[in-house]
Amino acid sequence: MTIEQIRQNKPQTAAWIKRYNSRLVKADDAVKAIKSGNKIVVQPGCAAPFNLINAMVDRKDELENIELYHILIVGELPYAKPGMEKHFRHKAFFIGANARNAVNEGRADFIPIFLNEVTMLFKRGVIVPDIALIHVSPPDEHGFCSYGIDVGNIKTPAEKAKCVIAQVNKQMPRALGNSFIHVNKIDYIVEVDEPLKELPQIDPDATPEILEIYDKIGMHIADLIEDGSTLQMGIGAIPDAVLKYLHHKKDLGIHTEMFSDGLIDLIEEGVVNGEKKTLHPGKLIAGFVLGTKRAFDFINNNPIFEFHPQEYVNNPFVISQNEKMVAINSAIEVDLTGQVCSDSIGTKFFSGIGGQVDFVRGASHSEGGKPIIALPAATKDLKISKIVASLKPGAGVVTSRGDVHYVVTEYGVANLYGKTIQERAKALINIAHPYFRDELTEYAKKTFNI
Ligand code: COA
Repeated sequence: MTIEQIRQNKPQTAAWIKRYNSRLVKADDAVKAIKSGNKIVVQPGCAAPFNLINAMVDRKDELENIELYHILIVGELPYAKPGMEKHFRHKAFFIGANARNAVNEGRADFIPIFLNEVTMLFKRGVIVPDIALIHVSPPDEHGFCSYGIDVGNIKTPAEKAKCVIAQVNKQMPRALGNSFIHVNKIDYIVEVDEPLKELPQIDPDATPEILEIYDKIGMHIADLIEDGSTLQMGIGAIPDAVLKYLHHKKDLGIHTEMFSDGLIDLIEEGVVNGEKKTLHPGKLIAGFVLGTKRAFDFINNNPIFEFHPQEYVNNPFVISQNEKMVAINSAIEVDLTGQVCSDSIGTKFFSGIGGQVDFVRGASHSEGGKPIIALPAATKDLKISKIVASLKPGAGVVTSRGDVHYVVTEYGVANLYGKTIQERAKALINIAHPYFRDELTEYAKKTFNI
């Protein structure tokens, strides 16, 4: 139902419709609520409200010291560009490609934090937002707008904001679950009708050799996934490669921070049905969607989905209630003791902690669960091993050697859980790229007496 139909069918006296109409403004007027020094939380991912963001940036000469809090946003990030320093400062909980230079050049900040704790910062009042910039579906007949393709990262912070400015988009799907905001809670409404930003699914730079590496990793991981498992997987070449090998599995479930296109075929085939899930049986639990229009259309009013705030989806204690929970995440490098660096390349901040540790710990505590770190054995040019004697100086440990269980490369699977340092080093050298095995063995002999 469209807002026009709702207006026609409901008496104009319905309180929320009156409120909706009275709050309708143009984007330029809505962002006048933003004042210098404000802390702003922005709905991220493919859901970033660009009409509001661009209108705010157009006002830059009137604004100073605005702080913008969010995880990665798909699209241009105008306030992270050189020359914006006086006006805006991005505070990144997870660094997107469009914020990487700004963070590493000191024009934006990185806040390392587990994804389940990001929304807790707002819940606990550690960050008190003056403004929430949100992007939602039109209201239903009861006045509820859905946060659509990003529920997890914004619902809780928006509830704590002093002022909520919403871009209401006819093309934003209606995601079900704990995923709604009532019109009465919105201060300014800007109506738009435009396609959502998409994150392409295919890496244009992937050569056949690289695809073959991902394929082998996918096969090894698929071998670890038993029928009836519940999966967490993100976007990208490794998850896609795993999905290719799951078509013969039965009764898989999904509990994941991020949903993307890759899983749609398995749901439609009935391979993913959630029937064996021990938490939320029959439901696919997620926080947000990163992908293409296919995924956005698929979640629209789809009752298999329940979207929830990230402090719920990514809470390790919640995750662990799914028996046979399999968490699949990637890394920049892993040292011979099992320390996993995923957010930096040496001293350069690359991405973030995200949900990796939330899901590693959740899967570790799940009955029959398997936390998996999957990565190619070397960089694409084969010049650098990703299984390393020791992490690069400045590299950040995301998953500690106390948390790590399975590490998978194209050369096989190393199960480090409960293993000694010597056993770990041997297992990891066995799955390192052959070019680097001799030097790794020499180091391990000298350092760990293997
Ligand atoms: N040394 C030097 N450079 C390295 C490197 C290493 N050990 N490992 C990777 N790189 C470079 C690559 O060459 C590549 O550069 P390019 O883009 O110029 O080719 C770049 O870093 C990215 O590497 P790639 O292997 O393609 O990364 P990816 O897109 O597969 O992402 C992570 C891997 C680890 C960065 C990503 O999974 C991540 O950010 N994880 C952390 C959070 C997380 O797991 N959250 C859960 C899901 S959100």
